[in-house]
Order: sequence, then C-alpha cells, then structure tokens
Amino acid sequence: MFIYLLLLTVIVTVEAQRVTGQQKTDSCLCKINSSIWTFPAFRFEEVTRQVQICEDALNEFTEKVRNTNAELPLMEATLQNISARLTAFDYLHTSGLYSALHLRQLNQELEEIHQSVNETHRQNPNKETHNLLSELNRAKNDVQRMYRDDFFNLETMKKRLRDLNNRAQSCKTIPNDFRSSCHKRILTRISSPSITKLNSISKSYISGAWGRDALLTYKERYWEHCLVSGNKHGNTIRVYNSLEDFMADNNYKDEEVAPSYSHENAVQGSGTILYNNTVFYQCYSTAEICSFNIMTHETKRMQLVDAGIDNKFPFCYYSCRDWTDIDLEADQDAVWVIYATEENHGNIVVSRLDPLELNITHTWKTHLFKRSVTSTFMVCGVLYATRYVNTYQEEVFYAFDTTTGKEINTLSLSFEKVSPGIANLNYNPVDGKLYMYNDAYLLAYDTFF
Ligand SMILES: *[C@@H]1O[C@H](CO)[C@@H](O)[C@H](O)[C@H]1NC(C)=O
Ligand SMILES: *[C@@H]1O[C@H](CO)[C@@H](O)[C@H](O)[C@H]1NC(C)=O
Ligand SMILES: *[C@@H]1O[C@H](CO)[C@@H](O)[C@H](O)[C@H]1NC(C)=O
Ligand SMILES: *[C@@H]1O[C@H](CO)[C@@H](O)[C@H](O)[C@H]1NC(C)=O
Ligand SMILES: *[C@@H]1O[C@H](CO)[C@@H](O)[C@H](O)[C@H]1NC(C)=O
Repeated sequence: MFIYLLLLTVIVTVEAQRVTGQQKTDSCLCKINSSIWTFPAFRFEEVTRQVQICEDALNEFTEKVRNTNAELPLMEATLQNISARLTAFDYLHTSGLYSALHLRQLNQELEEIHQSVNETHRQNPNKETHNLLSELNRAKNDVQRMYRDDFFNLETMKKRLRDLNNRAQSCKTIPNDFRSSCHKRILTRISSPSITKLNSISKSYISGAWGRDALLTYKERYWEHCLVSGNKHGNTIRVYNSLEDFMADNNYKDEEVAPSYSHENAVQGSGTILYNNTVFYQCYSTAEICSFNIMTHETKRMQLVDAGIDNKFPFCYYSCRDWTDIDLEADQDAVWVIYATEENHGNIVVSRLDPLELNITHTWKTHLFKRSVTSTFMVCGVLYATRYVNTYQEEVFYAFDTTTGKEINTLSLSFEKVSPGIANLNYNPVDGKLYMYNDAYLLAYDTFF
C-alpha cells in the first residue's frame, strides 16, 4: 500500500541504493543495509531508525519521510559539491598535475633548500639568510596545509620554491672573489666587430665555437673548434699562440680531444669553451660535461642531471639551431654551464662548476624559456641572452644576475653580425671581448659597462 523509495547517493563509493518499504499485515517492513548510512547521515539518524523499524504511526512516518525528502535536496547538493571537488582532484590526479608524489618531492626540495640555508645562516648569519629562513618556514607550513586540506596550487608553489632556491644559491658561502666588484655593472654597449674572419677550415662548417683562453693572462692563446658530421660532433680543437697566427692561419696545433668524432669523449654541439688550457664541452651523445686538459691530455666527465640534450632544448629564437642544448661559458673564477630541464619547464638553468674538481657548486633556475633565445654568454656572474633582430643584427635583451638571483628584462643592446645564425657566443674576461661563431664566420667585439 505504501511504497517509499529513498534514493540516496553515497559519496564515498558513489553508489546509489534503492530502498523499498512494503506493507505487510499491519506493519511496514523494509530492509536496509545499514553500512550505507555511514555518511553523512548523523542528522538523519532518527529518520533512519524510524525507516528501519517501519512501525511508527502512519502520520508520524509520513511526516518523517516528508522531512527526509525536504532534506534530501540539501544533502544531494552537498554531495554534488563534494563530488565536484573530487572530480577536479581526480582530473588533476590523472593528468599528472597533482599527486601525492609531487607533494613529497616538493617537501623534499624544500627540506634541501632549508638545510642549505640553515648551513649558510650558521656560517654567516645575515638579514638575507634570516629572511630566507622565515620564508622557508612559511612555505613549509603551506605545503603541510596542502597535505591536510587538499588545497593545492602546485604551480605557484613550484615557482615560489624556484625563487627561494635562487636566493639560497646566491647567498650560499662562495669564494670571496666570486662576488667580484664587476657583477654590479651591467653591459651597456657592444662595439662593431673588431675581428671578422672566415674559419680556417671551410665555409661549410657553419657550427662551432672560437675564442681566447678565458684564464691565461700571460699568453695569447686563441682557439677554434668546428663541428663536423652534420654540424654535430667534433674531436679536434685548433690552437694558436698569437692573434697574428690566428689571422694568418699559421703555426697552429690541432689538439685531439678524442681519437675520432664518434668516440665517447668526442664533442657534441657548439657550446665548447677553453679555460686554463682545458677544453670544456658536452660529451658525445650524453648529458655529461667533459673536460680535456690539452697539457696533460686528461679527460674528466661529470653528469649534468636532468639536462635536456639531443635538440630537446636548443637555442631556437627565429629558427632552431641544432645541437645547442648545452652551452659552456667561463669567467675569471669558474666555468658555467647553461642548459634547460623539464623540471624547470624548458627554462634556462645555470650551474657554476668548479673547473678543477669538475663538480657543480651552485645552480640557479631562471624564468627564461631556452627556446626563446638565440644564444647566451656570461660576464662576471651575469647571464646575458640574445635574440635575432634581422640577418645583420642581434640584440641582448635579458640578463640574470646570479649574485642576486634577479632578472633584468629591459635590456636592448644591439650588435652587428654578418650572417643570420649564431652557433656560439662567449665572453672573455681576460681581454673583455665577446666572441661569436656566426655561421662559418668568426667575429669578436669590444664590450662596455
Ligand atoms: C552492505 O554494503 C556494503 C558496502 O556497500 C557491502 O560490502 C555489504 O556486503 C553489504 N551487506 C549486505 C548484507 O548487503
Ligand atoms: C561548495 O563548497 C564550497 C567550498 O568548498 C563552498 O564555498 C560552497 O558554499 C559549497 N556550496 C554548497 C552548495 O554547499
Ligand atoms: C635548522 O636549524 C635549526 C636549529 O639550528 C634546527 O632546529 C632545524 O631542524 C634545522 N632545519 C633543517 C631543515 O635542517
Ligand atoms: C690552472 O691549471 C693549473 C694546472 O692544471 C692549476 O694548477 C691551476 O690551479 C689552475 N688555475 C685555476 C684558476 O683553476
Ligand atoms: C667538489 O669535489 C670536491 C672533491 O671531490 C669536494 O671536496 C667538494 O665538496 C665538492 N663540491 C661540491 C659542491 O660538491
């Protein structure tokens, strides 16, 4: 006679259960699996009891059911709201934007930065380390909240972490001479080319690098390195002991970095640099940095963790330049490596290397997408990036100061070139010149601060 249908959506398993009440003799009977009432029915407990026993007076029973019905839409709305939130969570979960694992990684990274800043603060307490520590504590609390409340904005958190990390890197204890006075001065002008010459081997070698030893002050040691094999690999570096010899292609020595261009110690890409009689370059087909000492012929290798290689993150402004994933630079005190990682979304990462130990001492992560620049160079701990203006003009448009972790986006220093493509740019702290491998041409410029 009375058939009541209660349709309840149970959130946890999102299953619906239909409950039928039946009149039998003088009582109403129905079966209910009570385990479905675990949520959120504390407000409906009384009703539940009534439904379960089905023995109340009809009026009372109807009244209860009416109440239930009145409350059902409310309950349903709540459930929908929760389901909607879970859906978003699910989406983020399945599309990889969020997972507990990411949170754990975030936490771990935070912990590492914290330890590093703690250490720095212990050795040299100052306002910056103090501020960093309190910001790190805030960030840690936020991550804890993300765990607790499923409140998350992972991307924002990652950005914050990157900035904190850059600041931590910049205030780490570093050699005294690292903060050389020059870092405060930003490049203001680049001259017209003071040297222009075709490389000494062939006009068809459009990729490579050239320059002057970035450390030796007592000697003019010029070098040129052309990539063969599809502008990808190389195994010799041509060395000259004077500018006159270089200009005349005279008295050079071809130093063998590896026995062949397909040897595991061969050079890949045009990021090579010569510093203190040592060639630093990307090792053949791996995310490793090699150093080859031309006096001792010793080769060392070092893993560059997460670096994109094999045209994953080349320099690409205007048109992509193959095999430019890893760019080495040098200044008075250190060798720098410029690359990009997936973790930093393809944006440029700068690491400072100890040239003798060949290990990384500092790493900064910039917001500059590596594919959006033509080439980079370092002056006094400041990274500069250029972009293509036209066939005969290039422009420095960006700088990142590793001593402050700050980016400068307002630069506009143009300079001339003779051909559209740039395979390598490097700055030499000994003579203050900027060296460019411009398709097959070798150019040098004076710089002004
Ligand atoms: C009651 O529901 C739970 C979960 O929905 C289920 O595991 C259990 O087997 C059910 N019990 C009966 C008697 O149907
Ligand atoms: C749904 O949830 C959000 C936040 O969790 C809350 O602000 C909103 O009032 C809820 N809406 C309903 C209908 O409960
Ligand atoms: C930082 O140092 C303080 C005390 O000096 C210590 O309590 C804390 O655990 C340290 N934190 C980390 C992450 O090492
Ligand atoms: C340059 O190389 C020599 C010999 O390998 C080494 O003794 C010296 O310390 C190096 N100088 C610098 C500044 O790295
Ligand atoms: C670099 O290597 C040297 C010697 O192996 C070690 O003493 C030093 O701590 C290392 N530096 C870093 C930053 O790993």
